[in-house]
Amino acid sequence: MQFLLLTTAFVTVAVAHSLPAKLCQDIELSVTVTSSNFVFGAPKFNNNFDVTDFVTDLASREPPKTFSPLLPDKVNQTGTYNIASTFCTPQDIHAANRSTVILATHGLNFDRTYIRIQPEKYSFVDYAIRQGYSVFYYDRLGVGSSSIVSGYINQLPIQTEIAKQLAQIIKSGRYPGSIGKPKSLVLVGHSFGSAISATAAASDPNIADGLVLTGFSYNGSNSNYFILAAQLQMASSQNPAKWNQLDSTSMPMSMGEFFPTPKRSSANGLERFFKAPDYDVAVVEYADQNKAPFAIGELLTVTATDLLPTAFKGVAMVIAGQYDFIECQSQCDDVIEHPATEIFANAAAFKAVSYPGSGHGLNFALNATGFYEEIFSYLGENGL
Ligand SMILES: *[C@@H]1O[C@H](CO)[C@@H](O)[C@H](O)[C@H]1NC(C)=O
Ligand SMILES: *[C@@H]1O[C@H](CO)[C@@H](O)[C@H](O)[C@H]1NC(C)=O
Ligand SMILES: *[C@@H]1O[C@H](CO)[C@@H](O)[C@H](O)[C@H]1NC(C)=O
Ligand SMILES: *[C@@H]1O[C@H](CO)[C@@H](O)[C@H](O)[C@H]1NC(C)=O
Repeated sequence: MQFLLLTTAFVTVAVAHSLPAKLCQDIELSVTVTSSNFVFGAPKFNNNFDVTDFVTDLASREPPKTFSPLLPDKVNQTGTYNIASTFCTPQDIHAANRSTVILATHGLNFDRTYIRIQPEKYSFVDYAIRQGYSVFYYDRLGVGSSSIVSGYINQLPIQTEIAKQLAQIIKSGRYPGSIGKPKSLVLVGHSFGSAISATAAASDPNIADGLVLTGFSYNGSNSNYFILAAQLQMASSQNPAKWNQLDSTSMPMSMGEFFPTPKRSSANGLERFFKAPDYDVAVVEYADQNKAPFAIGELLTVTATDLLPTAFKGVAMVIAGQYDFIECQSQCDDVIEHPATEIFANAAAFKAVSYPGSGHGLNFALNATGFYEEIFSYLGENGL
């Protein structure tokens, strides 16, 4: 296997008395992956006027005919990237579900902090540990402490190969702090992280025993991918103090500021992750402080790739917030089931859920804990 261990750090997390103790370790891996990549062929952006015009063309009713920012031919490319990861496992070696490892992949606009939001009632990692499971989560390519690459190059096919390699590393049990070869592996994604998990399972149906796509729907007739792009800005212009080192030609983007607080005048972008009254403003602030830029290449390639794991035979679930603006045009009831049920016709079990009250950012919802309960009770019922 082609990966190098760069650095590791043990972090024993002190927890409140009511919570089971967990052992977490930060692991920095160097992975070398080859993927069939799209090539960005449109003029590069010089400023936010260019970005706005690009979005107008992209959202056109006839984008394939009038505007194709990706060149028709893909190229095979190999790259080496550092991926900053964390592995957490219950300290109790007898925890029942410890040998099931969840590989969690976050979506656009955030880094791996999305998987472990504080306070703890929003933390996916802490919920999993409480049920006795182990979790491996990481900063996707381009954010957090993982390698930063050009936003014109960063894309779904590269990240799919990275996720596939992480899955192999976990299955081999060969990484620091590992519990050895796990009994089972479950891929859990959020939004773009679900697209990564789905494409990984499409290209390698034996990759995992479970596949949970959150903040995701296959019923494209109601998706708002390009409305999502409205009000995009170059990250360097939105937050120079934080993102000025991201050269404007590398084009990382940001979805605007979501602040319904008196401190800021605008709540642009709020609808993309939150639905009133199902949020706490302190969590909105937290989300804004922890947001991360994303690549135009990520946005463009997600709609140009095979996301259908039709040969997947494990346990599958698709779950989105009932009021998900991006995936379901603000109402997932009755649309999330299809065509997902047909796509997962070969799965050992399948369930589609429109999770009551929540917007796209399910981990930010007031009842995020109930959302985690939906996932883990389903996995438990199905032997994972
Ligand atoms: C990329 O690699 C695949 C698999 O090895 C091969 O089938 C394909 O022809 C290659 N494409 C190019 C453009 O070289
Ligand atoms: C989306 O959901 C609607 C409502 O259930 C259904 O009529 C439609 O066929 C679904 N779209 C696809 C592509 O399955
Ligand atoms: C939270 O979600 C769970 C699972 O869906 C549900 O049983 C519970 O009633 C919800 N709690 C609240 C306060 O809505
Ligand atoms: C293992 O996880 C399942 C699903 O959440 C849960 O029902 C069960 O109680 C867990 N087992 C233990 C011993 O925590």
